[in-house]
Amino acid sequence: MCGIVGYIGLKQVYPIVINGLKRLEYRGYDSAGIAIVNGDTHVFKKQGKVNDLVQFTENDNVTGIIGMGHTRWATHGEPNDINAHPHRSMNNYFTLIHNGIIENYSGLKKKLEANGYEFKSETDTEVLVNLIEYYYLKGSVSGELAVRLALSKVIGAYGIVVACTKEPDQLIAARKGSPLVIGIGNDEYFIASDATPIIEHTKSVIYLNNDNVAILKRNELVLKTLDDIELTPKIQEIQMDLGEIEKNGYDHFMLKEIFEQPKSIKDTFRGRLSSDLKNIRLGGLLDVMDKIENARRIIIIGCGTSWHAGLVGEYLFEEYARIPVEVEYASEFRYRNPVIYDDDVVIAISQSGETADTLAAIGLAKEQKATVLGICNVVGSSIPRETHAGVYTHAGPEIGVASTKAFTAQVTVLAMMALKLSHKRKTITDEKYHQLIQELNNIPAKIEETLKFNEEYKRIASLYKDATNFLYLGRGYFFPVALEGALKLKEISYIHAEGYPAAEMKHGPIALIDSNMPVVVIATKDRSYEKIVSNIQEVKARSGIVIAVVTTGDTIIRNMADHVLEVPETESSLAALLTVIPLQLLSYHIAVMRGCNVDQPRNLAKSVTVE
Ligand code: G6P
Repeated sequence: MCGIVGYIGLKQVYPIVINGLKRLEYRGYDSAGIAIVNGDTHVFKKQGKVNDLVQFTENDNVTGIIGMGHTRWATHGEPNDINAHPHRSMNNYFTLIHNGIIENYSGLKKKLEANGYEFKSETDTEVLVNLIEYYYLKGSVSGELAVRLALSKVIGAYGIVVACTKEPDQLIAARKGSPLVIGIGNDEYFIASDATPIIEHTKSVIYLNNDNVAILKRNELVLKTLDDIELTPKIQEIQMDLGEIEKNGYDHFMLKEIFEQPKSIKDTFRGRLSSDLKNIRLGGLLDVMDKIENARRIIIIGCGTSWHAGLVGEYLFEEYARIPVEVEYASEFRYRNPVIYDDDVVIAISQSGETADTLAAIGLAKEQKATVLGICNVVGSSIPRETHAGVYTHAGPEIGVASTKAFTAQVTVLAMMALKLSHKRKTITDEKYHQLIQELNNIPAKIEETLKFNEEYKRIASLYKDATNFLYLGRGYFFPVALEGALKLKEISYIHAEGYPAAEMKHGPIALIDSNMPVVVIATKDRSYEKIVSNIQEVKARSGIVIAVVTTGDTIIRNMADHVLEVPETESSLAALLTVIPLQLLSYHIAVMRGCNVDQPRNLAKSVTVE
């Protein structure tokens, strides 16, 4: 959470930082602020979005060629102007932006108060900036040393950028836990929480590692550890185009990302499905394939939508590879003292690659000597660097806070992994293996077919946009789809929604059903078709409104349901990839019709770097 941008060079910093903050706004949008170093350091900050900050600074002199900006997702202290970043130290020697949490801030604050420091905000960040100043003044040391001394006292996570008034030609950046990327231009450097604010300026970047400190002057970069050991920066090229992070004519990023799914899924399996569609190659897993093949158990961890993808993965691995699978919320797994064997394989799923709980769960699994794999979307993020091996989803940047194309890309990777593994373990026949690969290859075209019904989804959305509750039901592979459909609706339209295994409806949710309750049932043809038809009848018998996702041409459910959303026929093990599409679009249209901010839903952030 929180987005950070910094610039040092010869160009005007204000437009660079403001544009960068707009790109990072998906990380948090409670407040925004900017600091410009120009003689003195000028700080402007405002509750609300980056555009509020732009309006706020309309009449100010915002010239300068060194500076930093921040967009906040509030943790310590409510979203207001005072708690907004950048924060300044009491004597104005230092200015700082921060993404993360200083866990021991209250002890540090007491120590600083005992030394005469006073605080304006309720934030942990203001404690850090004052701690830096405290060491700076106490030891008469350089700004850089003061930063390193202060950080050595900090428990928690941080990505920071710091400016020192007395050393106005440099910025200092440091990370632990929260991501930071440095972009290398001509006589200029950029700093950001991810590469999206950087790619319009340069494609050469350095991803900071934990405990790295970078000292940036216009034409000099020094990288070192917190303990002052100098490091050789590893420069990488970003594989991302500007078009990928723009709306390209769509009203919202979420809509663009939903419609991108035929392409993003192809990007996920490109180069991984052989051209004759007879084999799967997952280069990132080659070194650990033996371990996966002989795994005692697979444990899948994730949060939010990634956890839902993990549930689909459980069904895939168990059905085809016949390996027992557990799927856990990363936040529960890490704190419940789980039994982990050294021949377990743990798969961490994360779009951002930065989710704090997932990262901590990976650490725990590694301590217990399990083999840990990652399925991530953001290249160079923390999770791929912390895991033993993994597979990138290559879905392209996902900006809409509610995840859509990342989900289908994650399920695609899980399907490829499960099929590869089952073929190696000989738990499926060659024929079945080839047939499933061919069907996976057909999925993008089938999603195209599904997307053609967008106007119909919009029409149905208009009928139920004012509902106060929704129920989503599914069995087998469609239970996770039901959970994901309900989550999409909650996240962006603020309508209460619950996803349930269809058979469990009888054990509680059925009591909620009346003529006002839309029930979305995922009921495509598969082995539990007859059962789900009965569940639909149970809903109808209680006057519930049934919106059913069905296989094209289904007449049985068409005669029972109030509305049907057709998707092409496919293997049921891959059908999550199709059936989720109408649910994404239904939520999208309902949210738009309710006037909600679809791309930036209230209280949420895309990258959850706090626990
Ligand atoms: C947040 C996002 C969700 C996402 C979840 C896990 O809650 O809003 O869309 O599913 O975090 O994020 P990850 O990046 O680990 O997949």
